[in-house]
Amino acid sequence: MARVFNFSAGPATLPEEVLRQAAEEMLDWGGTGQSVMEMSHRGKDFLSIAAAAEADLRELLGVPDYYRVLFLQGGASLQFEMIPMNLLRGRATADYVNTGEWAKKAIKAARGLADVHVAATSEDRSFTYVPAQADWELSTGAAYVHYTANETIGGVEYGWVPQTGDVPLVCDMSSNIVSRPVELTRYGLIYAGAQKNIGPAGLTIVVIRDDLIGVGDPVPPAMLDYATHAKADSMYNTPPTYAIYIAGLVFKRLLATGGLAGAEQRNLAKAGLLYDYLDRSDFYANPVEPADRSRMNVPFTLADSALDADFLAGAAERGLVQLKGHRSVGGMRASLYNAMPIEGVQALVDYLTEFATAKG
Ligand SMILES: Cc1ncc(COP(=O)(O)O)c(C=O)c1O
Repeated sequence: MARVFNFSAGPATLPEEVLRQAAEEMLDWGGTGQSVMEMSHRGKDFLSIAAAAEADLRELLGVPDYYRVLFLQGGASLQFEMIPMNLLRGRATADYVNTGEWAKKAIKAARGLADVHVAATSEDRSFTYVPAQADWELSTGAAYVHYTANETIGGVEYGWVPQTGDVPLVCDMSSNIVSRPVELTRYGLIYAGAQKNIGPAGLTIVVIRDDLIGVGDPVPPAMLDYATHAKADSMYNTPPTYAIYIAGLVFKRLLATGGLAGAEQRNLAKAGLLYDYLDRSDFYANPVEPADRSRMNVPFTLADSALDADFLAGAAERGLVQLKGHRSVGGMRASLYNAMPIEGVQALVDYLTEFATAKG
């Protein structure tokens, strides 16, 4: 069967070239006579794969040498807990900005561990915008400020980096990491699950400034302490080796196709194509403030939700899959991560047009 256009929010579509290379190397990586999955994580072959993945990610994100790149497990969800455990540094309060479902989950997890102050929220308009920095009420003495760069469910994305002075800025970049250039030195810590823009599920990327490592007070249990993983070069326990290998292939491909500036151009073109169509149509609607619309996840509704099942069935017949919106919001959602080609978005727009003409 031909490959479909997969609009899943994650795990998500991966570059076909990467999958083909992985297939070619499946039984014999680099003349070793074995698959990467079968290699010892402490052997020189896998160590070279992990080192190249880290070096390439550093180059892509522009990571200075006073930051560490950690390859962890437990998803972004474990970071919701590790962040307060490590970054409170004996302080009581942490500031959070609430922009939707994922910010809420981060806040809920931190509440068990810190005195969470919600500095701003967009709940008043059903999380359809990013609260302007002028409206944030940051607390004095906060240990850090946390925000969610892209709300995967609501389809809301920051187009700017918050100013927090000397207070470390912490960002959940799960659903937009490596989709656009980033000013990394504005952050104390960024984190992301790999399963959207980077590779298979099971790998979590953390980039953390040196002065925020090993300062947990009280000291967290070993596996939850960034210092443990930094000291052991992310090999304290067995890392997700195959996921790191695929991530490395994705990073190489990004570097070869214009880095993050190239990715941003492609993502702007794809998102523009879809939003322009949605805005011209009376049949479909997207509720998000135009300036804060996500380039990665585009939620939209049909004029009549009774047509949803029909719409999805017709889409699947055309090889356009995983368009059903998140159960908490309903409607549709098209995720346009780096690996979604513009041909996929054009095929979606063609189908949207055809469906609206037939049913509108
Ligand atoms: C923005 C955001 N944060 C956190 C998570 C949770 O990630 P994980 O399932 O890797 O724990 C997700 C998952 O979709 C997400 O989109």
